[in-house]
Amino acid sequence: MFSINDFIPSTYLNSIETGQFQWSAPSNIALVKYWGKKGQQIPANPSVSFTLNNCKTITKLAFAKKDISTALNVTDSGFSFDLLFEGKPKEDFKPKIQKFFERIEVYLPFLKEYHFTIDTQNTFPHSSGIASSASGMAALAMNLMSLEKALRPEMTEDYFYQKASFLARLGSGSACRSVKGEVVVWGHQANITGSTDLYGVEYPHVIHDNFKDFQDTILLVDKGEKQVSSTLGHDLMHGHPFAEQRFAQAHENLDKLKVIFENGNVDEFIKVVESEALTLHAMMMTSMPYFILMKPNTLQIINAIWKFRSETQIPVCFTLDAGSNVHVLYPYAVKEKVLQFIQDELVGYCQNGQYICDQIGIGAMLL
Ligand code: DP6
Repeated sequence: MFSINDFIPSTYLNSIETGQFQWSAPSNIALVKYWGKKGQQIPANPSVSFTLNNCKTITKLAFAKKDISTALNVTDSGFSFDLLFEGKPKEDFKPKIQKFFERIEVYLPFLKEYHFTIDTQNTFPHSSGIASSASGMAALAMNLMSLEKALRPEMTEDYFYQKASFLARLGSGSACRSVKGEVVVWGHQANITGSTDLYGVEYPHVIHDNFKDFQDTILLVDKGEKQVSSTLGHDLMHGHPFAEQRFAQAHENLDKLKVIFENGNVDEFIKVVESEALTLHAMMMTSMPYFILMKPNTLQIINAIWKFRSETQIPVCFTLDAGSNVHVLYPYAVKEKVLQFIQDELVGYCQNGQYICDQIGIGAMLL
């Protein structure tokens, strides 16, 4: 297991003038939720997620070494990069990248020596209300690690992926779960081998076949801008009256999931996952200031899923992220029936009838 100091490199033996890499990184959906953090993106409790397959960010990173004379000046003045979104300059994304570079510079000391062109796009519709920070930060971190690997070819594959996740975490916490593996744990949990607050790890224990082909159909309830950002929401867990119980509960739920992953009990899985989703939103509703991110249609969908499940015994459940969209989770075996149910009964609650079909994926890929 790597510690924070292992991610601070000594001198690079290689040098490289120009080049480019391109990586895709997926979104992920948490089963046990990360909500609350301390210090530099250290989670208040461990979380676990399914990696998605279709919802992803594709980022091309082109780099060119600055010439020495200008580099001396620029080194003082800071980072140099252009940001393109779907091929067009996007100024409003730049402050986030600037902040990310500042945070990770100590771990990638070459950053100020290059001019970067970051060209990024998402496979999911723009303004779908699907957060792109996890996939976006993960894709950028992968590219930066490819550059570091070019400078230090002797690094191991384990180091490459763990540091990529470590860097992604500093961009956005949940991004560290979008690097490698189908099921990823982030945050120290006593009985999950190798788990750490510093980066996400591929779930290392047995996963029953019942969970290997899970589907996630994302119902787009409201595509508008969120009124409260996740970052602010995390902050409100400081001094939250239920914070300590909540953090303890996340550990308990992860322990429960460990047993469930092994024995394949889908009914128990559903209980943990739905309870986690509602607890996340309960934390928002009981913080000060309080807020509600669910919309009336979110509740309509939840109630319709409960009714369908009790009438048909089909193992389908929901989870929520920090927004009003509903992730509908179910095994591949019942896909046809669930999609029919979504068509018949849930599409009407989606904005413009929109939803996205996704499934468990394996993580970031070099293109
Ligand atoms: C509700 O990772 O977006 O989706 O670390 O501030 O960037 P920052 O927050 P972010 O929080 C995600 C919270 C969540 C739950 C989860 O994914 O575990």
